[in-house]
Amino acid sequence: MTNWTASRIKATKGRQKLACLTAYDYSTALIMDQVGIELILVGDSLGMTVLGYSTTLPVTMEQMLHHTSAVVRGVKNALVVADMPFMSYQSSIETALVNAGRFIKEAGAGAVKIEGGAFRAPLIQALVQNGIPVLGHIGLTPQSVCALGGYKVQGRDDDSARRLVEDARILEQSGVFAIVLECIPSALAREITRTVSVPTIGIGAGPDCDGQILVVHDMLGLYSDITPKFVKRYANLAEEMKRAFEMYKEEVKTGKFPSDIHTYS
Ligand code: KIV
Repeated sequence: MTNWTASRIKATKGRQKLACLTAYDYSTALIMDQVGIELILVGDSLGMTVLGYSTTLPVTMEQMLHHTSAVVRGVKNALVVADMPFMSYQSSIETALVNAGRFIKEAGAGAVKIEGGAFRAPLIQALVQNGIPVLGHIGLTPQSVCALGGYKVQGRDDDSARRLVEDARILEQSGVFAIVLECIPSALAREITRTVSVPTIGIGAGPDCDGQILVVHDMLGLYSDITPKFVKRYANLAEEMKRAFEMYKEEVKTGKFPSDIHTYS
């Protein structure tokens, strides 16, 4: 078990801001863990950022297990949360229990994340009662992109805002240890954060959440197919990689690489 557990994350409410990121591989997770990122989400966003799909919908359990295991191998401290992919938990509570159990038993995750509000209450209760910590996720839920009609800010009108506050309350009562709030107005995120006793982790939800999360490829400037307003680029690794690949190509073509120091005598 890592130093950061679901119950420790829950206990940070009102005490400290949580810095969370997604990761999909061993080397990246290792670096994040070394700098003290508290929660690493193996997001199904890997379908878009790593596998090149246009949505997260095609991502499979096997792909998620493969990447979650790699992240777990890089982490000593952070809580690793596995994102349950589309249709791995929707069809029945039994299916969800089996699949969530695989993330814990086979991949070594410390918790799972599922998308959806009040209607997920029975499922969340079943997972939590069976010893599987759950991270909730409301607001823009990308697995519902077809129903939502695109990646749009949620909770803009009074009715949908009220529904999201109610969703958060019910997720809290169902036993989630924290809730991701994605792409909602900051005033609504502030209200939800004040209402619930578990930490809120915002992505495009303003500064008043208890923590923040970004998709690693977005914040490193490695993925630009879609760039939402809420993404802050902390690096431009695509440019850096292009520079390195071009230099390597040039040195191979001109015979500059490998030189003596990279050659066995
Ligand atoms: O899949 C993912 O990366 C996520 C985050 C955006 C929260 O769900």
